Amino acid sequence: MPRYSYVNGHYVPHGEAAVHIEDRGFQFADGVYEVISCVSGHFADEVGHLDRLERSLREMRIAMPMPRKALQLVMREFIRRNRIKNAYVYIQVTRGAAPRDFKFPQGDIKPTLVVSAIGCARFDMAERKNLLKKAVTVPDLRWKRRDIKATCLTAQVLAKQMAVDRGAYEALMVDDDGFITEGSSTNAWIVDKKGTLVTRPTDHNDILKGVTRNAIQALCKKEGVKLVERAFTPAEAYKAKEAFITAATTLVMPIVSIDGYKIGDGKLGKLTSKILDFYFDYASDKKRKQEHWTPT
Ligand code: PDD
Repeated sequence: MPRYSYVNGHYVPHGEAAVHIEDRGFQFADGVYEVISCVSGHFADEVGHLDRLERSLREMRIAMPMPRKALQLVMREFIRRNRIKNAYVYIQVTRGAAPRDFKFPQGDIKPTLVVSAIGCARFDMAERKNLLKKAVTVPDLRWKRRDIKATCLTAQVLAKQMAVDRGAYEALMVDDDGFITEGSSTNAWIVDKKGTLVTRPTDHNDILKGVTRNAIQALCKKEGVKLVERAFTPAEAYKAKEAFITAATTLVMPIVSIDGYKIGDGKLGKLTSKILDFYFDYASDKKRKQEHWTPT
């Protein structure tokens, strides 16, 4: 556990870090967040996460609490003070603290900015390739602006717990038309019967456009991996050759069972393994130019 968290301009001992009870993040989940993996002291896909943070804030009509460059300095000072090498670093921004009222507060209310972290083990490729996870499907109960990385995560908390209760790692959420949207905190991918990589499109704003997903798409283009964006059902996923999920925290995580159906031969798939390799090379390389993230 890191020793310090950053709250509104101060690095405070983690145990004492707090925001006001009238913070709109606490009262209304009126805020947004980003999670960035710090891999051996390097912020993986930082550019894309900050692109998306700025966009989420714009969509919510919350001001950036400080310019991007200043926030990057805070992030670096934060890992320096905590002597962090490997961690998930969380940036949370809310509309700020104000007397409870549904409408936006008037006057000089400053957004709340919190930077915190959860330490994690050094990424080990060999270990990851042996981590084969199960998923289950659950109804997608979320609001309609799932493209905004908002802090209203009640539906995802319930979905994830349903997965855990059913002995699985991730919940794949299913929309009213019977198609998988995404994982509770991940994007979902399959390799279909023809060997094509498939993931749901993002242009209807009905899923979060993952920064990891975005970079993998760009890398797939360079590596000549055939990829189509289309929605797929649980029934198609059960028969897929391979399946995996992606996020800043999980990076690429193989899924070998969905609702108890074995995916492919129940082992790490060839394409999943290749994507794991090239995404991790990209994410951990300090010198490599990072991909930008755009809304659609
Ligand atoms: N979750 N879809 C949802 C609903 C998510 O919450 C996330 C990320 C993703 C993947 O996005 P990215 O590749 O940018 O991390 C997709 C983070 C990790 C979280 O809330 O912990």
